[in-house]
Amino acid sequence: MKILMVGDIVGGPGRMAMARVATRYKAEGRADIVIANAENCAAGRGITSTLAEELFAGGADALTMGDHVWDQKESMAYFDKEPRIARALNLPPGCPGKGAIRIQTKEGPLTIIQLMGRTFMNATADCPFRTIDEWLQRNGSQSKMIIVDMHAEATSEKVAMGKFLDGRVTAVLGTHTHIQTADEAITAKGTAYMTDLGMTGPCDSVIGRTTDAILTRFLTGMPTKFEIASGDVRLHGALLSIDSATGKALKIKRVEEILSKPS
Ligand SMILES: [Fe+2]
Ligand SMILES: [Fe+2]
Repeated sequence: MKILMVGDIVGGPGRMAMARVATRYKAEGRADIVIANAENCAAGRGITSTLAEELFAGGADALTMGDHVWDQKESMAYFDKEPRIARALNLPPGCPGKGAIRIQTKEGPLTIIQLMGRTFMNATADCPFRTIDEWLQRNGSQSKMIIVDMHAEATSEKVAMGKFLDGRVTAVLGTHTHIQTADEAITAKGTAYMTDLGMTGPCDSVIGRTTDAILTRFLTGMPTKFEIASGDVRLHGALLSIDSATGKALKIKRVEEILSKPS
């Protein structure tokens, strides 16, 4: 079983990149399933039902969110209706949507869970460690293949989650920072790990936004409008090979696909 997990999709350039690469990977037999982080797909802020449908039509089989999950009011009701989107599992009770979703694949059920880190994060969330521990004790036997999207700022919190879940899930893959890390690995217990998948969108930017606006904010502290950048569009993520019978990860490959050259 081959899964392409795509790092944070930013705006229109990111959506285009995801669709092109997902279509090509599936056509070439390089990916059976594509999972994508979509927390920034609506001009950097959240998701709408229309954009979610665009991503599904473009080849995504499941989407995960993050701290931008509630940025678009319109999408709140959609989270309860669409079973292919996961928001963080450790959000407080009463939030719309689900933190653990299950999709059917040709090799059996695949569970996708998102967890939100709490270090340096501007989001209200319960302890991700206790939350996933309790979830696995209750539901861990329902599917062999379990992918965890650890959405967090601090590398330490992500690495700690990788260690905590070692041997208990198929993969722990980080999102949120938009900067890809080079620490992809398979542990002795068969869990794939990578601290951050990176960003799918315009890389001639500051994590997806136009450089000038961000620099003005840093230099003056004045409010500026953060527009989505346009140049040097890339897809970042990871390609996993999984033994679907055991749920163990066999291989992880860091992915960078360049869709438009730097200007
Ligand atoms: Fe993001
Ligand atoms: Fe985020």
